[in-house]
Amino acid sequence: MARLAPERDAVVFTNATLADVTAARRLRIESGWVAVRGSRIHARGTGAPPRGLPQLDLEGRLVTAGLIECHTHLLFAGNRVGDVLARMGEAAADGRLGAGGIRATAAATAAASDEDLLELLHRRLAAFAAQGVTTVEVKSGYGLTSAAEARLLELAVTGAHRARRELGVDVRVTYLGLHALPRAPHARHEAIEDACALLDRLPAEVRLVDAFVDPHAATVAEGRRFLEAARARGLGVRLHADQFGDAGGALLAAELGALGADHLDHASPEGVRALARAQTVAVVTPFASIHGGTQSRPPVEQFRRAGVRIACSSDANPGTAPSVAVRTAALLALALWQLHPLELFAGLTREAGRALGLTDRGAIEPAMRADLVAWDASHPYELVATDLPLAPIVLTRLADEAQP
Ligand code: NIG
Ligand code: FE
Repeated sequence: MARLAPERDAVVFTNATLADVTAARRLRIESGWVAVRGSRIHARGTGAPPRGLPQLDLEGRLVTAGLIECHTHLLFAGNRVGDVLARMGEAAADGRLGAGGIRATAAATAAASDEDLLELLHRRLAAFAAQGVTTVEVKSGYGLTSAAEARLLELAVTGAHRARRELGVDVRVTYLGLHALPRAPHARHEAIEDACALLDRLPAEVRLVDAFVDPHAATVAEGRRFLEAARARGLGVRLHADQFGDAGGALLAAELGALGADHLDHASPEGVRALARAQTVAVVTPFASIHGGTQSRPPVEQFRRAGVRIACSSDANPGTAPSVAVRTAALLALALWQLHPLELFAGLTREAGRALGLTDRGAIEPAMRADLVAWDASHPYELVATDLPLAPIVLTRLADEAQP
């Protein structure tokens, strides 16, 4: 058993029910302790806790890695409730209910002040923090021009600093460069080149890019142009792939070695097999799948047969997934698609981290970030097979308080 030297910034959480998913995708649950030094996990064990450290007795509480929300579009203004009526075949007679898809949100976002956007972002991030989420990905994407996207990325980075300070949440900012594209060929070409040009001016904190490759959005060739340029600059690649139809997005994700391919409701069988070979994480987004009433669903059985890793996400956005309820997203995936609680627990921790290229979190292992959360629960499946309130406490904050 590891022994810790007494240090001011070290603490051992005792009498805990430690639960995580191993690299071999097995559930590990045991009664024990976990020692933290600074912002890192130092050791874990099941016997007597190491002596000489401040101890915090967790009274048997469940302890997991903090949840990871790997796909959100939180930086937007306005709402799209009018779209809901439109999908029901009703025009929004009330002029206050706008409609109009991604471009409507882009217009509302352009009209909002920086202060208002930052406040909206912070409020939404706080809602994730309150659910035991310690890492949140935030995409740009409602700018649609490089100038507007640059503004949103700067705001996201500013919001990330505030979230780290005030909420203890690590925000990962993604440049969603191809979202809604013009139809006219010339304008379309210009928009893609404009999106590529911003790759050379990204804030240093932006290490990930995304593109919407779908029959309704970018083609494979357009996606490849942008994403290859990003990859050549050392950025991690994500795709919104084959959400409304098979556009070859899954195959492109695999070809580019994408960290994650998201949605995938219409991914081809070859695409799924390619994702497995490329070790690209499939990110399922139940709210977006069901919101239009289309009953579409990702090919979960094919993911399993091929050995594709699965993450689960709220996809929080104003249009197809106006929700920040990450555990409800998992619950829907379980109820609608029979994802196993183990797949979902992994999908909100370890695998969600992988989809962001982050292997330093998502499990309770030495050297990983000490993003530990204690829950008023006895089993991690309660996190994903229910959305009952489980009073999460982020232990990293307690660790700070426990300093002698
Ligand atoms: O993840 N598919 C594209 N992007 C979002 C929807 C954006 C919107 O409708 O505003 C999604 O579903
Ligand atoms: Fe999305």
